[in-house]
Amino acid sequence: MAELRNRTASLWMDTTRDAPGFPSLEQDLEVDVAVVGGGLLGITTAYLCARDGARVAVVEHDVVGGGVSGHTTAKVTALHGTAYQELRRKHGAAGACDYAQGNSAAIATVARLARELEIECDLAERPAYTYAGDDGERSTVEQEVEAAREAGLDAALVTDAPLPHPIAAAVRLDGQLEFNARKYVLGLARAIADLGGHVLERTTATGLSERGTPEVRTAAGPVVRARDVVVATLMPFLDRGLWWTRLTPMRSYCIAVRGATTIPDGMLISAGQPTRSLRPARGRDGEPLLIVGGEGHPTGEDDDTRRRYAALEAYAREHYGGAAIEITHRWSAHDLMPADGLPFAGRYTPASTHLWTAGGFRKWGMTNATMAAEILAARIAGRDHPLAGRFDTTRLDVLQQAPGIVKEGLKDSKHFIGDRLRGSGGRSVDALAPGEGGLVEVDGELVAAYRDEAGAVTQVSPTCTHLGCRVSWNTAERTWDCPCHGSRFAPDGTVLTGPANRPLAPKGAVHPVDVT
Ligand code: FES
Repeated sequence: MAELRNRTASLWMDTTRDAPGFPSLEQDLEVDVAVVGGGLLGITTAYLCARDGARVAVVEHDVVGGGVSGHTTAKVTALHGTAYQELRRKHGAAGACDYAQGNSAAIATVARLARELEIECDLAERPAYTYAGDDGERSTVEQEVEAAREAGLDAALVTDAPLPHPIAAAVRLDGQLEFNARKYVLGLARAIADLGGHVLERTTATGLSERGTPEVRTAAGPVVRARDVVVATLMPFLDRGLWWTRLTPMRSYCIAVRGATTIPDGMLISAGQPTRSLRPARGRDGEPLLIVGGEGHPTGEDDDTRRRYAALEAYAREHYGGAAIEITHRWSAHDLMPADGLPFAGRYTPASTHLWTAGGFRKWGMTNATMAAEILAARIAGRDHPLAGRFDTTRLDVLQQAPGIVKEGLKDSKHFIGDRLRGSGGRSVDALAPGEGGLVEVDGELVAAYRDEAGAVTQVSPTCTHLGCRVSWNTAERTWDCPCHGSRFAPDGTVLTGPANRPLAPKGAVHPVDVT
């Protein structure tokens, strides 16, 4: 497989790379609300709490909006593929209606905050479509129109959509939004600072004490004491609550295309497989680009993720200009699918009094995270929120979810046992080409090894520090991914995505190898 250019440059990160950053935590801090995680969920929650008059601090281990929020398609819509027929089946008409109501309100919130705070984030109104590529998918789309309308959305069944290839039918929902997600999150973060709040980048939270005044511990030493703490880290990272048993981690992929023969005036997603998600966008100097996304799969369960990008590129070349188009950016997203199909927002565990969390945004985090932030901010301020009960975390009580947990447990066991049988295949470190990683045998021991472009080899333990599954190499992103609960690690073992919060153990020295 040819090497990928622009391997991990998301359009949203590239277009905000010159944005001023925020300081790190250098001394102990005391606030009313501490938020761990500086993505759209954490920043929106912190902003809403600050606007309620709370003293807030956001603790972000990397940069604000640099995780999922910086690696998304950034569609702000209540039309989520074929979600409403699924939600109606699982949660009845009332459940689907609450989901539609919460997401529609979130769209209005994004528009209002962007306007009030004058955040320049390329916000534009577009229709959203879920399209059937052929007659076999038509009934799915028809059912989605019916379910979405029953849920209160003004969805329409149409037979055309802004696509260069034929479709059988589509759901159309007008009045939706697209934006540059990271510009929006950075704008909210600046508004937090303007209100006197603390936004702290490159500050890694390592744990939390709930005894007395809750206290967020950080890797560098200083702590943040707060009356309330919100864990907004995608997968809740604390060793309590068993969140990983209720969330399935998924990867999906995006490319940005320059020179497309046509750029749709709308945001589209296919009803069937393979998923194709499209929307227009703007590059650094305003040039029109086309975003093509899709190719989702469970984290850690693909032997060669480079073919995911290749499939998106092949689709773009087939329909949008052949050899004349240029792929300007490639990036991948990490999403968590909730066990019962609904996002959650509420107390971290049923016993928590001042510890909160939210997640399970089912790949539609721009609206679902905004909705969750509004619920959390209201509950922290002691206000009622009309959707708090529907999305409350207690519905996911571990005892009530026994079948789902058994299923996830089986998945874990499958990986735990299967992975232990899976070895290096007798491969040695010398067989690794520059830029390649894999499980190899060193002195009779299995290690996870990566050879960089200069030939230096980094060796770490292949055992995930969360619960001990075996990591696998992600060829496109050059990361170690755990198939059990989605933890991801850099080649040197640094944690990129939890629930693991400790690096993979080093195995032997980092040593240069002659690759001539
Ligand atoms: Fe749970 Fe790796 S993420 S074992």
